[in-house]
This record gives sequence, C-alpha cells and structure tokens, in this order.
Amino acid sequence: MKKGAEKELLWQSRFAEPFDREALLFSSSVDVDKALYQEDIRGSIAHVMMLSEEAIIPVEEARLIIEGLEEIEQEISSGALVPDWEDEDIHTVIENRLKEKIGPIAGKMHSGRSRNDQVAADTRLYMKRAIGELGNALKGLKKLLLEKAETYRHTIIFGYTHLQRAQPISAGHYYLAYFNMFQRDGERLHDLYKRVDISPLGAAAFAGSTLPLNAKRSMELLDFGGLFRNSIDAVSDRDTIIEFISACSIIMMHLSRFCEDMILWSTSEFNYLEISDAFSTGSSIMPQKKNADIAELVRGKTGRVYGDLMNILTVMKSLPLSYNRDMQEDKPPLFDASESTISSVRIFTKMLKHTKLNEERLAKLTGEDLSLATEIAEYLVRKDLPFREAHRVTGKIVTYALESGTALSKIPLETYREFSELFDQDIYDALKPETSINTKQSHGSTSFASVDEQIKAARSGLR
Ligand code: ARG
Repeated sequence: MKKGAEKELLWQSRFAEPFDREALLFSSSVDVDKALYQEDIRGSIAHVMMLSEEAIIPVEEARLIIEGLEEIEQEISSGALVPDWEDEDIHTVIENRLKEKIGPIAGKMHSGRSRNDQVAADTRLYMKRAIGELGNALKGLKKLLLEKAETYRHTIIFGYTHLQRAQPISAGHYYLAYFNMFQRDGERLHDLYKRVDISPLGAAAFAGSTLPLNAKRSMELLDFGGLFRNSIDAVSDRDTIIEFISACSIIMMHLSRFCEDMILWSTSEFNYLEISDAFSTGSSIMPQKKNADIAELVRGKTGRVYGDLMNILTVMKSLPLSYNRDMQEDKPPLFDASESTISSVRIFTKMLKHTKLNEERLAKLTGEDLSLATEIAEYLVRKDLPFREAHRVTGKIVTYALESGTALSKIPLETYREFSELFDQDIYDALKPETSINTKQSHGSTSFASVDEQIKAARSGLR
C-alpha cells in the first residue's frame, strides 16, 4: 500500500510529494460534513447559474454542470454514492464525482469561489433549516403547555422556593411559567435568523475575485435575505454558529429544569404525577422500579450541548484573520447541538403529553399543608396589623401547629384568638387553598382569573 494519498487533492499540483495518508485521514472532514451535501449542491447550482448569467462560463456548460450536480444529489441520497474520506471534504467529494461524470468542465464550477465562502454558505443554509425545525418543535411544545395550563388551571399544586413547599398555586400558572421560557427561546431563534440569513458567497477565499461575480444574484438564488458587507468577515465569521448553539443551550437549560421537576415529582416520595409507561423504563434487577429515563437523558444531554458551546467558543478564541483550518472544527458542535436540541424538544413534548397529575393526592396534600401560613399573615395585614408583626404572630402559630401536629385549618378559633384578637371565623375561609389562590390580586399572579388571562394572552402571542 502506498503511504501517500491515492487521489489527487484539489491543491496537490503545487507539491512535489503526495500528502501523507495519515495526515489526510486526520484532516478529512467527510464523515462530518457529508451531512451538508444537499446544501453544498444547492450552493453550487446557484453559483453556476450566476456564473452563466454573467457570461463567466458558457450556458451549455453550466447546464451540464447543473444536471450532473442534480444526479449526484440523487446518487448520495439513494446511497449509490458513498462519500469517501479520501476526498478530504464533501465539497471535493462532489467536485471529483462531477469530474468523473462530465470531465474537466466540472472544474469551471469553482470559478470565483473558494471552499472558504462555499463552506460558510453551506453552514448558513444548514442553520436556516435547523432554526426552522427547532422553531416548529418549540411551537409544538408551547401548544401542549397551553393545553396543559387549560386542563389543569383549577388544579392546585404546591409552588416551591428552595425546594420547600412555599404557597399553593394553580397548576396552570406553573405550566405557563414554562410556556414563557419557551416563548422567549422562540423569539431568540427568530431574532438570530436575521443574522444567519446573510449570503457569504462571492467573498471567494477572503479578498474577493477579479471575475465579474454577481454576489447579489447568488444571494437571491439561494433565498438569502441579505448579503455580506466585507469579504474578510464573510469567510471568517462564525458568530451565528455560536449564537445558535447558545440559543440551544438556553433551551436545554429550560428543558433540564422541567425534567428535574418531573423526575422528582414522579418519585414515590412526591408522587404528584405519573409519566406513562410508554416513556418510562424498568430495572433489570429491581422489578418494582419505574424510571424516568427519557427525562434523565434530556437533562443529561444539556451537559452535552453546553459542551458544544464551550467547544466552538474555544475553537474561535484568538484565531487570527481570516480563514484558518481550525474552523473546520465548527461543524461537529453545530450538528451535535442542533440534533440533540431538536430531538430533546420533540421527545420531551411527547413524554409531557403522556403525563398526568395525580389530582386526588395533590388536593389532599395542599388542603392540609402549612404552605397556607402566608395567608394567615396577609389576613392579619388586611385587619391592619403591620406586616412584620403579622409575620411574627404567624410564625408562632406555625410552631404551635408543628408541635401539636395539627393542620392550620384544624386549630380552633379560641386558640387563634390567643395569638391575636384580630382573628375571626373568616380565617377558615382564608385557609382554603382555593381562597388563597383566588384572592391574589396582583399582576401575573396565580389567581384563577389571572391564569385565564395569561392563557388568553399566550394564545394570541403563540407563533
Ligand atoms: N472542510 C473545510 C472547512 O470546513 C472547507 C474549507 C477548506 N478551506 C481551506 N482553505 N482549506 O472549513
């Protein structure tokens, strides 16, 4: 076996010796960037159309090239052509195959273009598609959250701070909190799309071309909304990849918090909800177990996507202008973050759809709990006691309840009156979780009326 590369590489003619085979294996990106074959072919077709319109290459040759490229797309998608790592990257795989099909005319496809602006264009086309898919997946999740908020708007659950039972809330209020997070995520993607939607084609290697290229025309043919302003920046900017992975990281962070709630709430200690069997796993040794593996995996993949973000930030750190081969390392984190986030949002949505709250148990627990202590304090405030004093009195009542093992609603009125003269019969009404929720008056609160309003506003803002 020869030690050197067996195929002629695009840049080989300048060298006396063939490229070392191991160095080629090390530098080949085909296994990763073959995922860009459709974008690459689309980009080449647009470029070649522009070249022929500008009379840089003859119309007939452009036709041959475009037909060849369309066939290659079929060959790759059907599996008839398997991209070979020895071709160095997907751009070369396609160009070499075109050369086999139509001969040296294939080489005209690259007039006025470098792989530097080519790969930047491919990556932007990929991200436009990924943003669309992720946006749709998020939309599905948001729709489901609105359904959940509607179904459970009168179901009372515990709200937590410091993972301690804090105050009773409407479960609808809880689901709407997540709705708001994913709504912001959708807005972030929408905003980022404007910056991704810029064509870098026509920048060539980095300094431009002596050929009369029409960059605006390539932009239009590829459906890009805008054109690069500076050719150096066009080939060396990876900001939008960083922004995209950062948006993915925030989505995963939101999902991981939701997963954590679900994992915890599905334990027998909490037992607030039931994830359907179809999204749970068992143990190979402990037959009683039902594990929330899907939620755990989504939570785990969050670490992976954060890793992708650190990866790309570190690859780009201190890189001198303009293009450097380091930048080939942008694709593994981009693809990984994109695939992990899209699949996480989709599977999480499906799992959530097949999850039920244990309403009976929640009603029983919230009715008996000390989490209504704030209600006592606010009751006293309504009777004109300064809040600090009301808090102090209530603290004493809570200690009493804990020591005597009584629920707040079971303490007799005489006892309440020993703590403060201000107590009357109506304290028992204030101590119902429904009253606690329904008497909230402040903006965006958990009151049933406020939750209904929030659902309505969310429905009209859903996109
Ligand atoms: N595979 C390369 C990448 O992803 C394509 C650009 C190669 N350019 C170059 N000057 N070697 O960045």
